[in-house]
Amino acid sequence: MKFFIDTANLDQIKEAQALGVLDGVTTNPSLMAKEGITGSDNILKHYVDICNIVDGDVSAEVIATDFAGMVKEGEALAALHPQIVVKLPMIADGVKACKYFSDKGIRTNVTLIFSVGQALLAAKAGATYMSPFIGRLDDISTDGLHLISEIRHIYDNYGFETQILAASVRHTMHIIDCAKIGADVMTGPLSAIKGLLKHPLTDSGLAQFLADYQKGN
Ligand code: E4P
Repeated sequence: MKFFIDTANLDQIKEAQALGVLDGVTTNPSLMAKEGITGSDNILKHYVDICNIVDGDVSAEVIATDFAGMVKEGEALAALHPQIVVKLPMIADGVKACKYFSDKGIRTNVTLIFSVGQALLAAKAGATYMSPFIGRLDDISTDGLHLISEIRHIYDNYGFETQILAASVRHTMHIIDCAKIGADVMTGPLSAIKGLLKHPLTDSGLAQFLADYQKGN
């Protein structure tokens, strides 16, 4: 399973990259705003800065909600850097734009997926990635992980190549459960990725090893 970090914070991206387990980055307009990155020129520059830190794919989201606007913005985003993946919302014009980009060989990530029907449409339109938001489903008492397993089942039935990018991941158990189900990618915060490191027996075991070494030296 690929690990993407879900942030526009350059320090956190650098930290995850330095850990050696990072495969890409997802961003969205809210994450950009959280870092104080506003205005089209600054946002475009920030995408390039992110691409220069990581080796993998970087999702850059269009703001337009009409087909022509999405195509114009998406083409500009894709031209920024070879690592850019054009992120499109799961609305009718987003599906049309996904098909357009897929026919042109431009990679896409269809976002804001909350149902298997939407997942089917994204795959039919040739999306490279599609992002079901599991945390936001959990927030409304709906099982986000169940959606991932249903999509996995359906995609495997037909050999769809669209990658399931489990998004809105909130904690370590989301990551582990996504791996069990067979999500292709998960995107989450640095805290969830680093949370996988933690085990008290690792800490106490290491402390004991170091203490025993000191006794003999
Ligand atoms: C996905 O690409 C989104 O940026 C993201 O995962 C949304 O997560 P949230 O529900 O934590 O905002």
